[in-house]
Amino acid sequence: MTTATKITYTSTGGDLDEFHRHFDDALDRVRAAAGASYPNMIGGEPVAGTGAPLDDTSPIDTSFLLGRFAAAGPAEVDLAVRRAKEAQRDWARRPWVERTAILRRAAELIRERKYDLAALMALEVGKNRLEAMGDAEESADLIDYYCAQMEEADGFVRPMGRITPIERNTDVLRPYGVFVCIAPFNFPLALSTGMSSAALMAGNAVVYKPSEEAPWTGLRLAEVYRDAGLPAGLFNFLVGRREAIGDALWQHPGVDGVVFTGSKAVGLRIHAGLSSRWIKPCLMELGGKNAAIVTASADLDAAAEGVMRSAFGLQNQKCSATSRVYVDRRVAPTFLERLIGKTQAIRMGDPTERDVYFGPVINHGAVERFERAVTQARGEGRIELGGERLRGGVFDKGHFVAPTIARLPHESALYREELFVPFLAVGEVSGLDEAIARTNDVEYGLTAGIFSADPAEVERFFDEVEAGVCYANKRSGATTGAWPGAQAFCGWKGSGSTGKGGCGPYYVAQFMREQNRTVIEA
Ligand code: UN1
Repeated sequence: MTTATKITYTSTGGDLDEFHRHFDDALDRVRAAAGASYPNMIGGEPVAGTGAPLDDTSPIDTSFLLGRFAAAGPAEVDLAVRRAKEAQRDWARRPWVERTAILRRAAELIRERKYDLAALMALEVGKNRLEAMGDAEESADLIDYYCAQMEEADGFVRPMGRITPIERNTDVLRPYGVFVCIAPFNFPLALSTGMSSAALMAGNAVVYKPSEEAPWTGLRLAEVYRDAGLPAGLFNFLVGRREAIGDALWQHPGVDGVVFTGSKAVGLRIHAGLSSRWIKPCLMELGGKNAAIVTASADLDAAAEGVMRSAFGLQNQKCSATSRVYVDRRVAPTFLERLIGKTQAIRMGDPTERDVYFGPVINHGAVERFERAVTQARGEGRIELGGERLRGGVFDKGHFVAPTIARLPHESALYREELFVPFLAVGEVSGLDEAIARTNDVEYGLTAGIFSADPAEVERFFDEVEAGVCYANKRSGATTGAWPGAQAFCGWKGSGSTGKGGCGPYYVAQFMREQNRTVIEA
């Protein structure tokens, strides 16, 4: 079951008949398996939860129950941390080549199961088929890329110089112990896999909490690790409501570090609270308010296409999504006309269907956030397209809102707040100076894009923009589509915590601490 070409977030089409056939079959399998009940998995054993079970429903059709998950409470958190600690001792002592062998096997299993994983993600979080397959493929590539990092660094064991003839010095990176891994809904497999596989490869154990919106995908990852031969206790799967275990997880004294992808507000709280006894590693990828700049020299068709794809792919629910555009006044009318034209052509509907691009937002809270933004935008500026909930037929079953473009004055707070709904704010600027200044005038610094035919403008943009993931002239997505080993995904300012990103060459080392070993050989 392999497709000739690998699907990434930049895939736009081609001959995909075989892909769609496999996808249809996988959807049937996932639908047929829906409705079952699942426990937590702690120390390799099923463990019931002490919280009220959590119903996992589809945002496409909220009456469709995918599964019922036992919800953990503080007692299960404690058990998971203890089991993780026990298992970690042996794991850290194992030669790193054995760890990478198991993880490379996990990558193979993800590839073998990619259609089922993608079909599940389409149903569970409302991804379209290509986005869902991109997520599955990225997960496997993340593991392989992180394994390669370990291999290239020879397990992070490195001979050092000597200051006397009788000493032998070695620098070694060693694991911290137990990492809590808290994942978001939007890339339910790739972000969970990326964060956890790097922690594991480095020799840590993981206590993992998937998003409440995507526990089934999280469980599938636990199964992948188990089937790859990862010893019990190293990857503990805990489903729980944020109110019940969100804090209990990182506040547990047995936890040695946290890796988190999610909102800035939650990230700041964890970061501020984690290190009460000593400073612990806290790797965070937080939100974004990512701008695309369209200069007077830009190819406006490429710009409109790139902005449309990054603003409305996955309904804007990506940390990397374009949510602001600064367009040069001289080309604004033409750009806007093309952007609206391309957005009107989007196929909306049930994203598990072939060729539907735009599906639902994740939950009712997102619909409300969308409606609040629209009301505010009507008061401050002008809605150029969309602005309403979608109604009728399939739309009445789930959380559907229209892709929305608003022209707003620069003072609007809608240029600064992360919304995570398909709402794009467009403002006109006098030139590149103003565009860069406005791009930087937010608390976030994740991704940014420019469309310009002038290499000097592009160079200035790279030099002056305050963001970690920057693109020029990317028609397949102005600010989105980073891939392991190709685009490091590092958030600056309020978008991250360590200055080194996932998908990038310095990621795995962050899950380890340095130890010097000096032996006197007299
Ligand atoms: C996220 O949304 O948190 O570059 C990260 C991209 C994706 C981003 C995933 N790889 O668009």
